[in-house]
Amino acid sequence: MAHTPQAKYRKNYQSPSHTIMDLELIFDLFDTNTTVTAVSHVKQQKESNQLVLDGENLELKSLKVNGIEWQDFQLLETGLSLSSLPQEFELEIVTLINPEANTALEGLYKSGGAFCTQCEAEGFRRITYFLDRPDVLAKYTTTVIADKKDYPFLLSNGNRIEHGDLAEGRHWVKWQDPHPKPAYLFALVAGDFDVLRDQYKTKSGRDVALEIFVDKGNLDRASHAMTSLINAMKWDEERFDLEYDLDIYMIVAVDFFNMGAMENKGLNIFNSKFVLANEKTATDTDYLGIEAVIGHEYFHNWTGNRVTCRDWFQLSLKEGLTVFRDQEFSSDLGSRAVNRINNVRIIRGPQFAEDASPMSHPIRPDKVIEMNNFYTLTVYEKGSEVIRMMHTLLGETNFQKGMKLYFERHDGTAATCEDFVAAVEDASGVDLTQFRLWYSQSGTPIVSVSTEYDAQQKTYALTVEQTTEPTHEQKEKAALHIPFDVELYTAHGDVIELQCNGKRISNVLNVTQAKQTFVFENVPEKPIPSLLREFSAPVKLEYDYSDDELIFLMVNARNEFARWDAGQMLLAKYIRSNVFGVQSGKAADLPESVVDAFRGVLLSEALEPAFIAEMLSLPSHNEVSGWYKRVDVDAIATVLKAMKVQLANALQDELNAVYHSLRQTAYSIEHSAIGERALRNTCLAYLAYTDQGNDLLLAQYHSASNMTDTIAAMSAANSAQLMCRQALMDDYSNKWKHDGLVMDKWFALQGTNPAPSVLDTIQQTMKHEAFSLKNPNRTRSLIGSFLSANPVHFHAKSGEGYRFAGQILRELNDSNPQVASRLIDPLLKFRLYDEARQAMMKSELESLKSMENLARDLFEKVTKALES
Ligand code: TRP
Ligand code: ZN
Repeated sequence: MAHTPQAKYRKNYQSPSHTIMDLELIFDLFDTNTTVTAVSHVKQQKESNQLVLDGENLELKSLKVNGIEWQDFQLLETGLSLSSLPQEFELEIVTLINPEANTALEGLYKSGGAFCTQCEAEGFRRITYFLDRPDVLAKYTTTVIADKKDYPFLLSNGNRIEHGDLAEGRHWVKWQDPHPKPAYLFALVAGDFDVLRDQYKTKSGRDVALEIFVDKGNLDRASHAMTSLINAMKWDEERFDLEYDLDIYMIVAVDFFNMGAMENKGLNIFNSKFVLANEKTATDTDYLGIEAVIGHEYFHNWTGNRVTCRDWFQLSLKEGLTVFRDQEFSSDLGSRAVNRINNVRIIRGPQFAEDASPMSHPIRPDKVIEMNNFYTLTVYEKGSEVIRMMHTLLGETNFQKGMKLYFERHDGTAATCEDFVAAVEDASGVDLTQFRLWYSQSGTPIVSVSTEYDAQQKTYALTVEQTTEPTHEQKEKAALHIPFDVELYTAHGDVIELQCNGKRISNVLNVTQAKQTFVFENVPEKPIPSLLREFSAPVKLEYDYSDDELIFLMVNARNEFARWDAGQMLLAKYIRSNVFGVQSGKAADLPESVVDAFRGVLLSEALEPAFIAEMLSLPSHNEVSGWYKRVDVDAIATVLKAMKVQLANALQDELNAVYHSLRQTAYSIEHSAIGERALRNTCLAYLAYTDQGNDLLLAQYHSASNMTDTIAAMSAANSAQLMCRQALMDDYSNKWKHDGLVMDKWFALQGTNPAPSVLDTIQQTMKHEAFSLKNPNRTRSLIGSFLSANPVHFHAKSGEGYRFAGQILRELNDSNPQVASRLIDPLLKFRLYDEARQAMMKSELESLKSMENLARDLFEKVTKALES
């Protein structure tokens, strides 16, 4: 490393020395040498005539203060320092940048034939020297100049105010954004696109033009994104009373993008994966993903853009809240239970794993080296759970009062997480003093419950103990305020009203101490408790349920989530005991009663198909791994497979009957149709493990009218390693080899192939005409899925999986550190494996650490992981 990257600390926040009120940008676009002229109006905020601007990979062409060439400056490694400045001045900076060489996809770069930008978190400093921090809000005017034939569309934030033609076939467009914004929300796009247009009238009567820009020829894949956008605009008006605030809303889909999408003011830029869909190319999961991400970016217009973050440590202020909003959007439009289940799976799987890893951090981190490393499941998904807990404690009405007060106080400014909590607290009168600890404490609390029924007194005592184990970066833990939602049932399935001290109380208990007992009165019989309903807090629940109690809850709990959760707990009991059994040489086995419980679910007429599909889905290998301090990769895989085989064969007749009863004639994207396909394909995934599997999959593949059914067949053939697998894979690749996005599903199946030869196949597949390590979607599909979702072969005893990971990471370190840094996570968790594997994983990390040009992103993770 040239220089050891320096960490920043939340506690050291200082307001900026200067503010920049207006910024006029001119981009003269050329592939390898784009000139950026930036004229800003700067005002001193503190006693200081020195201004330090951020800048990276820039070539400074000229620098003027109030129209005069400025000599009093110094170029720094990380920017530009100006001295002897007046209190208020006009600053003109001309820089030269090379978009074509920008493979990191941060700043201004080329995606396919188009120019586009990505400025969050700190990418604007790769465009010009600037105060690239979210608490500097300026009004932007942007002129884009480019060749007219190649780039007929020139886009930026706000309203298009002027345009014209120039010599040599070039043209220009000028945009003005009336809303002051931080630099990370700046965007520019230049290219040739097909445009899907629509309009929306807000509830106060503003007409908004809606435009979705896609690569030429993709217009037939843009309509679901448009529908989702209109639904999102409407939903935000109805549920949050929030309206859009410009006359135009644009979305551009690009193929080269590091993340999902970006909420730039008035000009969202999307990974094309979250825009393009039709029934032939996209699965139901893709459709739902598009709805969620389109919603997410739209909702940022208020939670993120109108009120932004004071500093990047506050990222969860906008992300946790916006994820909460997009989850509510999806739940209001579709199945609340299914959405909740999927969100909880993410917390219990990868988020809990992050808490247990060297990268553990609170939802509001205290120390950051590379901000891009903190766009995490903890900040986003756990951040959303923290907002959800406040919603649970306050109720919808008070929560909305809190939102209203938050906007009254902070609209147009850069705020902190504390500002949000204070607004919610002041508006509702609910004391959140102890609750605030969720923002500063990392790790997963364990909540253990014990119960005692007193038949004489008719009382039921529920004792709750909470502990949070030390995390990598934080040893001391305190008791949290945990909203703990419970319900009690009689053996007949009747709900027992909760009474304490002679009063009826809410289902949501306030757990605030390390150990606490709640005594319920007038409990007529020994009840069956339903605990942590709706996953009311992001904690690990421990309670010694009997099988009978869990089977009872699977059928009788009033709330769908609780039924699903009981089923998961029942499965978990047997996964654990079977893993133990397999380790001591026994064969895995499920008792008849458990199989019967799942038979009952499968045949239930009362449950929705989408929900049955969730109930029948086993936890993933990764989720199960998270239950252990020392992970036995092979034993877990053996048990999960054995359970699938046993359930499939025991329930074969019922699975067949349900599978055939759900055959659809016409394709529809209605939620009920999605649910039926989900259940049908869940049946298929089990039936793949029976002797009729191969024929059934072949038949489904060849008769499929949509991508959901196609991929379901291929994926089942892949998991169960059926004969037909290769033929289906070949057929698909012949059909779709010219479409990278559609091929991503195929690449992911290659990456997760359970065959022992998978690594050879992956290396071959990297030569496929549709593959490129320069494209993050391709890389994540093939390589990312191998590293994170093929544990048996990634952790092969030979160490070949680790060595392959190391080789790819070294290559990506140079071309795209952000993507490298996301891929590396499984390697950081070496402490979970046996000594031999640990040594091999560590040696890959050591070899990365010794790289001459190790990027800050990887530096931060590698050094943290190797610290003892
Ligand atoms: N703010 C974006 C979102 O969550 C996240 C994002 C998009 C991002 N692109 C990025 C974050 C690049 C870091 C780097 O909606
Ligand atoms: Zn976001």
